[in-house]
Amino acid sequence: MSQRIAKDGKSIVMDELKWDADYLNSFNRIYIVACGTAYHAGLVGKFYIEKLARTVVEVDVASEFRYREPIVDENTLFIAVSQSGETSDTLAAMKESKRLGAKTLALTNVVGSSIAREADQVLYTWAGPEIAVASTKAYTTQIVLFFMLALYMAEIKGTQKPERVAELIGMLKEIPGGISNTLSDVEPIKTFAKQYGFNEDVFYIGRSLDYDVALEGSLKLKEISYIHAEAYAAGELKHGTLALIVEGVPVIALATQKSVYEKTLSNIKEVKARDAVVIGIAAEGDEELEKYVDHVIRIPETDELLIPILAVVPLQLLAYYAAITRGCDVDKPRNLAKSVTVE
Ligand code: G6P
Repeated sequence: MSQRIAKDGKSIVMDELKWDADYLNSFNRIYIVACGTAYHAGLVGKFYIEKLARTVVEVDVASEFRYREPIVDENTLFIAVSQSGETSDTLAAMKESKRLGAKTLALTNVVGSSIAREADQVLYTWAGPEIAVASTKAYTTQIVLFFMLALYMAEIKGTQKPERVAELIGMLKEIPGGISNTLSDVEPIKTFAKQYGFNEDVFYIGRSLDYDVALEGSLKLKEISYIHAEAYAAGELKHGTLALIVEGVPVIALATQKSVYEKTLSNIKEVKARDAVVIGIAAEGDEELEKYVDHVIRIPETDELLIPILAVVPLQLLAYYAAITRGCDVDKPRNLAKSVTVE
């Protein structure tokens, strides 16, 4: 990210993009389209662009988008997210949108990949080679890139004050240190993974950005440990899933978003009342959550927009150690491939 931060640390530099305010304001619709983990990064991207650049964004999985006759025209910006740049459904969705007149932007990790070549403009995630099938650092860099893109758009469109942009960039620069902190104490996560590694079902809950991270956490657990895992928007639990919460069922509850904290807490109380075993993910300094859950994993404090970059790390580690506990091949999960070049 350092190459995309101006020397004075106050604004974002994206020389790769040729966008001025007129051009950006000409889009009346943005679609973010991707598969798997990249789709989950897209959900966070939507949040960032809407919150910071005040533009409506829709996110879809590529295999759905391409067959639903999406409303696309020359005022549409189509953003494809793909680590490999080769995912067949994402590429096809991009080609279709281009044919219908959309401008296309690729967020990808692989220079010269098919999606990078097909797009009008490209932003590389610069994650370095990602070898294991399950995406981890690609996800992190996709979120970082979305955050920077949203800030860049906000600066051009004038939707955020320069001081706020500078403040968020300052916090972004602290994030790598925050990740190192999270990685420095993995023992409690190892212990939980051993404790719950042989459960049949695990639930992830959260609201707002926490929900987006919950989706990714549950996907990671499924992919590499083969434990059935589901993520739910915490407020949606009572519309059905609560029926599955019984004594001893593990629930990973993310409660990092201050704006919905109280609401999340009341959902956590609902699952606790049914004797679920709750592992809470909270920011440092949160003294409240530990009163209502069985264990707390803490992540460093930062602006709530940036928390997904930190909050996903313990979830990735939990999946990793659960997989190891169960004797699974973490790098090469059964039935999955790194690049899915078939439909
Ligand atoms: C495969 C991988 C996932 C990845 C998805 C999208 O299913 O197993 O980890 O998220 O493809 O891949 P992409 O390269 O387009 O990001």
